[in-house]
Amino acid sequence: PPPHRRLRAGRPRVGQGDAGRWEGGGGWARSPRAARRDPPHHPTTPPQCARLADEFGVVHLSAGDLLRAHTKSGTPDGDAVAAMIRDGAIVPSSVTIALLRAAMDAAAAATGAAAFLVDGFPRNDENRAAYEDATAAPPSFVLFFDCPEAVMKARLLGRNQGRTDDNEATIAKRFAVFTAASMPVVSHYERQGRVRRVDADRHPDAVYAEVRQLFEGVAAAAK
Ligand code: C5P
Ligand code: MG
Repeated sequence: PPPHRRLRAGRPRVGQGDAGRWEGGGGWARSPRAARRDPPHHPTTPPQCARLADEFGVVHLSAGDLLRAHTKSGTPDGDAVAAMIRDGAIVPSSVTIALLRAAMDAAAAATGAAAFLVDGFPRNDENRAAYEDATAAPPSFVLFFDCPEAVMKARLLGRNQGRTDDNEATIAKRFAVFTAASMPVVSHYERQGRVRRVDADRHPDAVYAEVRQLFEGVAAAAK
């Protein structure tokens, strides 16, 4: 069959995609019509944050990326973090905050950066309490990418980045942790009126069109 039919044949689409395909880079490019209908297999947050950093000059700091880099430090601490990530568990904030602080200091020293887009943090109430102890600055707003679990799972299994936690068993744990531990943080910021919910079950360009408007609002308010 033609490539786009091969791709569409095997619903659910778990594990079938990667960024190159929906971008139409390779032999697997789908017909434009299929590409519009099918959500692409890509993680939501990293590319959205990269575009925001690009357009608005904020420094993108991903807690997950910093923790993954830390696992390569060869220290006992790094090994403990690696085990927690494999298990989908949330790392104690003392570790995560130290990494975020060092990254912020480095960015401020290098570029004078003053605005940070902190991605994937705080992830539970312990993270949040420690963050509030460490800084007097509440977040300007909290961006919440809203996505059905099935779509999220397909994106995670399809991104092929060699992550130790993008497998069925760990993904199930990550979803459970998200519901039990991360949603209370969202609710907390919702009560403060800081949460901006964005429907992430759309093409990345459509998601970004909405996200960038939210950022323009914040940038205008800051002037
Ligand atoms: O956000 P990301 O998917 O990159 O996070 C991957 C993993 O990193 C999480 O499942 C968790 O184990 C760890 N993490 C954490 N604390 C954070 C962010 C990520 O422990 N604040
Ligand atoms: Mg993340």
